[in-house]
Amino acid sequence: MRTITWDPEIPVIRMIDQRLLPEELVFIDLHTPEAVASAIRQMSIRGAPAIGAAAAYGLALAGIQSIAQTSQALMRDLETAAELLQATRPTAKNLSWALNRLRKSALDSFEDGPETMRQRMVEEAQLLADEDVEINQRIGEYGSSLIQDGDQVIHHCNTGALATVDYGTALGVIRTAHEQGKRVHVLVDETRPRLQGSRLTAWELSQYGIPYEIISDNAAGYFLARGLVSAVFVGADRVAANGDVANKIGTYMLALAAKDNHVPLYCAVPTSTVDLEVSSGADIPIEERDPSEVLGLQIAGRITAPEGSSARNPAFDITPNRLITSFITEVGILPPPYTDTLANAVRKAQPR
Ligand code: MRU
Repeated sequence: MRTITWDPEIPVIRMIDQRLLPEELVFIDLHTPEAVASAIRQMSIRGAPAIGAAAAYGLALAGIQSIAQTSQALMRDLETAAELLQATRPTAKNLSWALNRLRKSALDSFEDGPETMRQRMVEEAQLLADEDVEINQRIGEYGSSLIQDGDQVIHHCNTGALATVDYGTALGVIRTAHEQGKRVHVLVDETRPRLQGSRLTAWELSQYGIPYEIISDNAAGYFLARGLVSAVFVGADRVAANGDVANKIGTYMLALAAKDNHVPLYCAVPTSTVDLEVSSGADIPIEERDPSEVLGLQIAGRITAPEGSSARNPAFDITPNRLITSFITEVGILPPPYTDTLANAVRKAQPR
């Protein structure tokens, strides 16, 4: 079951509404690029690779719905839709990567006219989605060598099938190890404030039959300091050329605690998440979301912050490269120095 699919007959983009999990598994149909942009902004779909796939399908849909009669006019309509989709969530590299890939497929068939451009874009979006699944399976294969039978690992946020088209990145590594017959136990960071860990990762793990326990984010240091954790697995929304990582808020503190306790922290990413044009994490834009996500939490039906409180809500933080043991990508496990190994991996994976 894919997180996001495209039905060419209607045409429509169908996706799981992740806001409703774990209570309900509901699919929603999106008929316009505006609806796709809104679904990304509101996090019905989230996770960098899944956002990329949604944007790609969204732009293909914009192409189909455009009434443009010439290639030039179609390109103009596509730019308007691409701007709308790009503005939804600024941190994930996969978003601009996917939009650029779709733009290129349109431009490559520019001379053949708008109908061919539309058709090529739909094919490219499908290809991108199919490739995402294969890439994740390769990440899983490489990364599973880092998990031994009997390991207990910490996982932050959700990097599973729900965060991708299917299978997942960091969670896909854990999943592969489990499928290989290794006994692996996961400590699931609940991941405040949107609780992607307890709502989504725990839901996925229960579907796969992988044993887990949910911990509050601030309990991770306790388990690391007691020597109860073999490794930490995270994903990323964007990796800078030097290996600094933008990932879900809390990753930095987790990485510090892992380093202090000599526990390896592995970052699993498709190379489409690597941004060689950004030299360090300082240049990665960090999304700040609505304070209501922090203030709106209720416990036993009771509010958890005094009326009138303000809050800050950065969605991501930067983990410096020195805290990352290695990257797991679809072309292999990358050790430092990351400036070299990441650039080589991108070249190898995306020769075009
Ligand atoms: O705000 P989210 O839920 O979109 O954040 C997701 C993450 O931070 C993931 O770790 C990252 O996108 C990688 S998903 C394979």
